[in-house]
Amino acid sequence: MNVLVTAGPTREAIDPVRFVSNRSSGRMGYALAAAARRAGHAVRLVSGPVALDPPPGVRLVRVVSAADMLAAVEQNLPWCDLLVMAAAVADWRPKHPAAHKLKKADGPPVIEWEPAPDILAAIAPRKKSSQVFCGFAAETRALAREAKRKLREKHLDVIAANDVSRSDRGFDSDRNELAVFFAGGPVRRIPLARKSVCAARLISWLEKIAAKKK
Ligand code: C5P
Repeated sequence: MNVLVTAGPTREAIDPVRFVSNRSSGRMGYALAAAARRAGHAVRLVSGPVALDPPPGVRLVRVVSAADMLAAVEQNLPWCDLLVMAAAVADWRPKHPAAHKLKKADGPPVIEWEPAPDILAAIAPRKKSSQVFCGFAAETRALAREAKRKLREKHLDVIAANDVSRSDRGFDSDRNELAVFFAGGPVRRIPLARKSVCAARLISWLEKIAAKKK
């Protein structure tokens, strides 16, 4: 099947030299792209700025902002059977990025914010019934409640939730522990393991869901 994966953070410009971003390393998304490729799928990886080499055999599309990522996902959406949105997309962005570097002498800037595009919300109306969408939920509290809400509100088939309040897993770590929620189904757990192991297991579950939709 054709698998589209998003990974890493986005950067939202404050001025030409400064941006707002987050601690996503991209490792979970890159592990998912590698696992899907190893399982024999065609893989395209839309990646925010990260310090990782793309997995062999995967087509890499580099993006910077949430708006860039939305455009890349929209472009590749008709091609994919499975979309895994592992990217940590910005929720807000500066409304008016400055055209020139803000000067320290002018004092701390007051930044007006606006919502960044919600990629899953934007593409939901174009989802084909044969397509499988899997999201990620990075939470620091009320993991199950938040994951179930996002599963429903974002029209997902599956959401993989991880606790990012702990330093030994999740953001910027080699390891992860996932609670995987299925639409209308049970929750399954992937115990603490290397991200490559978590990724292989999640891809195998997503393959089964995609096969049922065919
Ligand atoms: O940020 P949040 O926890 O809501 O992210 C849940 C899911 O929504 C993730 O799969 C993420 O990639 C996606 N998302 C998105 N567009 C955003 C923010 C998040 O598609 N602006």
